[in-house]
Amino acid sequence: SDEYDVKICCMGAGYVGGPTMAVIAKMCPRVRVCVVDLNQKQIDAWNTDELPIYEPGLLDVVKTARGRNLFFSTDISGEIQKADIVFISVNTPTKTQGIGAGRAANIKNCELCARTIAEVSTTDKIVVEKSTVPVRTAEAIRRVLKCNDKGLNFQVLSNPEFLAEGTAIDDLESPDRVLIGGSQSPEGLAAAEKLASVYANWIPRERILTTNLWSSECSKLVANAFLAQRVSSINSISALCESTGADVSEISRAVGMDDRIGKRFLQASVGFGGSCFQKDILNLVYLCETYGLDECAEYWNQVVKMNDYQKKRFSEKMVAKMFNTVTGKKISILGYAFKKDTGDVRETPSMFVVKDLYAEGARIHVYDPQVKREDMWSEMAYTCGISPDTDPKLDAAVTTSPDAYAACEGSHSVAILTEWDEFKTLDYEKIYKSMSKPAFIFDGRNILDHDKLREIGFEVHAIGKPDPNAFDDL
Ligand code: UDX
Ligand code: UDX
Ligand code: ADP
Repeated sequence: SDEYDVKICCMGAGYVGGPTMAVIAKMCPRVRVCVVDLNQKQIDAWNTDELPIYEPGLLDVVKTARGRNLFFSTDISGEIQKADIVFISVNTPTKTQGIGAGRAANIKNCELCARTIAEVSTTDKIVVEKSTVPVRTAEAIRRVLKCNDKGLNFQVLSNPEFLAEGTAIDDLESPDRVLIGGSQSPEGLAAAEKLASVYANWIPRERILTTNLWSSECSKLVANAFLAQRVSSINSISALCESTGADVSEISRAVGMDDRIGKRFLQASVGFGGSCFQKDILNLVYLCETYGLDECAEYWNQVVKMNDYQKKRFSEKMVAKMFNTVTGKKISILGYAFKKDTGDVRETPSMFVVKDLYAEGARIHVYDPQVKREDMWSEMAYTCGISPDTDPKLDAAVTTSPDAYAACEGSHSVAILTEWDEFKTLDYEKIYKSMSKPAFIFDGRNILDHDKLREIGFEVHAIGKPDPNAFDDL
């Protein structure tokens, strides 16, 4: 109908598609946006006030636009037919088997979307890759679309998403940049301009960058690889700090004040998680290997290896400090999400620590304000290959607690694995009193006041923070 300037259909109603489309709809009342998904439950949830993902501010944005120019539907064919622009925003997980297993991204879902678009379209479309994909995926999409023999014109654009979970709405409403890659032909440039004009409704033109397709696809992988590399770099230094008496926070501050380096993403931690960092680096590694660039592949692979080391180092330190045994001991895990302000547990470092402690025979009590027990298990099954189905003892060994105090009561140690704000203001005197002694705290995010905890009586171990008694001050 004529009431809209542009009609958008987005395939995939997940962590990326949902928030991105909600913000486009909010910011552009004259653009019709419909998000479609194969998963009926997911779509039903988007149509209620119990959204399928937890993201601060998202519900308000959805409520502003839903029913006005924002819709959620499972009528994939019908919505593709109506649209001028179709976004592909489906999951592209690391392959678990076959060629490139454990490294290459599986673009099966993207290809399926392209096939559906080719099959059902009756008018020209601009097809936008939103999902993170290996470089040159646009070519595969273009070829699949071309097999449509109805004489339609399809333009493929790459428009990677840079939002971070927990701050998605801010990131979408005022992004550092929007990147649009397209073919440099007149038709390609016109398609890129059409998409740019949607974003220009709220984003200054100088922040909308256009490049060729391959630069755009590659930039997304590189941006995530650089961010993850900073975390691994500072985490490698955290290990050095614990052995030398240097303090990693002081180092981050000193190094980050160099403008050329910058202060963000230098927070030492138990390791990075999330659906993107590891996946995208492995994707980059695989890409380099594919072109015979083994040194480049090895260089980036170290970022992932350092992250694995950091996670392992954390659980090993816990066991070592607790007299080399946690068998039968109650251990409290505060935080299971891969970062604060999200319920997402994909690749969360907490899972690896829980897995290690479980293998040591500990009784584990987990509290996270947003994580659902079922999500914990499905991610553990997917990533670690263990679940209560295959490993019946797991269900009894890992309890999910209703709050932090319940999780900590009677335990030998508390590990902070997600930097939720609410963990900073817990009553640690009360927690200390309820615990077995000596009471340990392992701060995997360096968010607590360690001096104060020591005054209460805790034995505190934190990332890149040397034991105050171990090194002489000069
Ligand atoms: C460096 C540090 O910048 C400085 O803070 C420290 O005190 C001494 O070491 P310097 O070696 O004098 O200073 O020069 P710098 O500008 O850092 O360049 C070092 C090398 O890196 C040069 O060969 C330069 O050409 C190269 N470089 C730098 C690049 O190849 N690309 C870049 O983007 C930046
Ligand atoms: C990331 C990118 O930031 C985003 O641009 C891209 O679109 C998707 O991937 P996300 O994974 O949602 O976003 O969160 P991010 O804030 O980048 O954190 C990733 C992981 O790194 C988290 O586990 C976080 O705790 C960890 N991290 C981050 C650190 O350990 N230290 C830091 O200083 C920063
Ligand atoms: P991301 O973090 O990239 O957004 P998610 O897993 O959160 O990934 O979301 C991807 C969504 O894409 C899922 O809801 C999934 O059901 C949906 N999806 C996967 N394949 C298709 C497809 N061929 N057509 C429509 N939706 C799809």
